[in-house]
Amino acid sequence: MKAATILRQPSLLLATCTVLHTAYATSSTAKTCTSYNIAVTVSTTNAIFGLPHFQTDLDVADFVNTLGSRDSETAMSVTSPMTENVTASYTIAATFCRPDGRGAGKNSTVLIATHGLGFDKSYWDPQLDKTKYSFVDFVVSQGFSILTYDRLGVGASSQVSGYVAQLSNQVAILTELTHLVKAGKYVGDTGKPAAVVLVGHSFGSATSITAVSNDVTLADGLILTGFSLNVTNIDGLGFTETLGLRIASKQQPGKWRQLDTGYVTNVDLVSNVGAFFKAPDYDPAVARFAEANKAPFGTMELITGQRPGLPYAFQGVAMIISGKFDLIFCKSDCDDVLETPGARVFGHANAFKAISYPGAGHGINFHLNATGAFQDITDFLSASGL
Ligand SMILES: *[C@@H]1O[C@H](CO)[C@@H](O)[C@H](O)[C@H]1NC(C)=O
Ligand SMILES: *[C@@H]1O[C@H](CO)[C@@H](O)[C@H](O)[C@H]1NC(C)=O
Ligand SMILES: *[C@@H]1O[C@H](CO)[C@@H](O)[C@H](O)[C@H]1NC(C)=O
Ligand SMILES: *[C@@H]1O[C@H](CO)[C@@H](O)[C@H](O)[C@H]1NC(C)=O
Repeated sequence: MKAATILRQPSLLLATCTVLHTAYATSSTAKTCTSYNIAVTVSTTNAIFGLPHFQTDLDVADFVNTLGSRDSETAMSVTSPMTENVTASYTIAATFCRPDGRGAGKNSTVLIATHGLGFDKSYWDPQLDKTKYSFVDFVVSQGFSILTYDRLGVGASSQVSGYVAQLSNQVAILTELTHLVKAGKYVGDTGKPAAVVLVGHSFGSATSITAVSNDVTLADGLILTGFSLNVTNIDGLGFTETLGLRIASKQQPGKWRQLDTGYVTNVDLVSNVGAFFKAPDYDPAVARFAEANKAPFGTMELITGQRPGLPYAFQGVAMIISGKFDLIFCKSDCDDVLETPGARVFGHANAFKAISYPGAGHGINFHLNATGAFQDITDFLSASGL
């Protein structure tokens, strides 16, 4: 149930809503947002970091060297052969937004968006020109509702060790959030959604596809952005090297003193652009914004994110959409690689579409033509009856 028109009214900002910090962060979408701190308890089998914890940035450099070894035994040594079963309770900071006006988001399709490494939930709704860069505003203008959240260890969610945050616990948290949303919780007065769609970016896509792989009835739709399953052309090492990783707490103690040395971040603006942006399709001011607002990520997230689950039996609708010039997932050319083995993995899906999106790199939402990709996503969902 989607309103075809964009309502030109100012946002209804509830007390719990994010306050707009910059003059140009204007929004023309009529929406109501509510923020929540959601308690979750998850039991997961976790991988264990296999090297001594980092003391200095030189240890990080040596870790990248080990990770990149063509000797698979050396490369594998970054994780221990042992695993551990962990049950833990966390608080997850989430924001739910729904359209105002007719229907007011009742019986709507709810998107649950998981951000990637280097960002927090504001990736989906940055304090930039909302008409150009806000995925949240765009999908709400099309009648969808959306829950965004800070992944474990990021932003206002519980803090953990960067040697603990990893794919398994992030997947379990997303799964729990999805069950809660399907039960009509944390969606304001929207009630039980008509359908739920998991949307991810990069590591968030790996998280979303793995959650659906573990339970193919979890969601009705799966939208994977900044992602590919074509391992022939995935270059995780090139991405890691481009970032020039540093220990986050040492780089910006003012912001990140509380994080342990497992949390790392890219070295500077240039490395951020190298990994996430593609000229001439971005505004350098937006890249500077991304660098100023970046979020550290866990070393174990970087390692485990490269082994997502494959939901062969999924019968919902699935889309993979990545910037054509995505460095990490396509070695900077996504044309003709997203379909293989995407179409086979989603062979039982009700619909599958792969798009190599022109004019964007890995950080697709921060490019000049991001709304074209947003449109491709909502067009696909609408055409699929969601
Ligand atoms: C962890 O749990 C799994 C099942 O969830 C079990 O098969 C495994 O033996 C457990 N491992 C340990 C070390 O307890
Ligand atoms: C909710 O929406 C679905 C799909 O849009 C529709 O089939 C169903 O009848 C609606 N349910 C209610 C109670 O409005
Ligand atoms: C990646 O895509 C290319 C081009 O379509 C294809 O030849 C290759 O087999 C794919 N790799 C995998 C692992 O599916
Ligand atoms: C912008 O996106 C639209 C919709 O996907 C596409 O048709 C158009 O070619 C894109 N423009 C550029 C400059 O990439």
